[in-house]
Amino acid sequence: MEKDIKEILFSREEIEKKIGELGNKIADDYRGKDLVLVGVLKGANVFMSDLMRKINIPLTIDFMAVTSYGLSTESSGVVKILKDLDHSIEDKDVLVVEDIIDTGLTLHYLCENLLSRKPKSLKICALLDKPDRRKIDIPIDYKGFDIPDEFIVGYGIDYAEQYRNLPYIAALKREVYEK
Ligand code: PRP
Ligand code: MN
Ligand code: MG
Repeated sequence: MEKDIKEILFSREEIEKKIGELGNKIADDYRGKDLVLVGVLKGANVFMSDLMRKINIPLTIDFMAVTSYGLSTESSGVVKILKDLDHSIEDKDVLVVEDIIDTGLTLHYLCENLLSRKPKSLKICALLDKPDRRKIDIPIDYKGFDIPDEFIVGYGIDYAEQYRNLPYIAALKREVYEK
């Protein structure tokens, strides 16, 4: 695994610090509200687990599983729902928790879908933002880090389903995904 890594972009410690800051901000903004965190599987799994423990107010969690990349490095643009929410979000204050926003196609599709269910509010929290590759504008309400246009893995993020278990966020060597 490590031999495929070109460069570590954010260490375990840097990620933890950033998530602490995001958690505090979210707790302040949502105190007294009916907060539901919606994690976007599978990528946001690790971020979601760490983030929710840094938001020290009452909340509930739910998950959707969607995919547009499959085993490729390019988004297909077609977002497939593999698992829907378990509960209604009508009148709830929904915060979507996503690991990375690249083209924006996944979240654009997801937000349209969630808005049709009449939440009281809908906001977005994304750990990583790769603005160079955006195809559609997405307002990010809570953002962790900006990243360069590199293929990123680790901390939940995969290439062909691998590397999700790396504890840090790293750029993958070009030769790994170009062969
Ligand atoms: C990845 C990532 C985001 C999305 C971002 O998910 O976790 O959900 O792509 O790309 P976009 O902004 O170009 O749409 P993926 O479809 O690979 O599924 P996964 O989370 O199960 O890995
Ligand atoms: Mn994803
Ligand atoms: Mg993926």
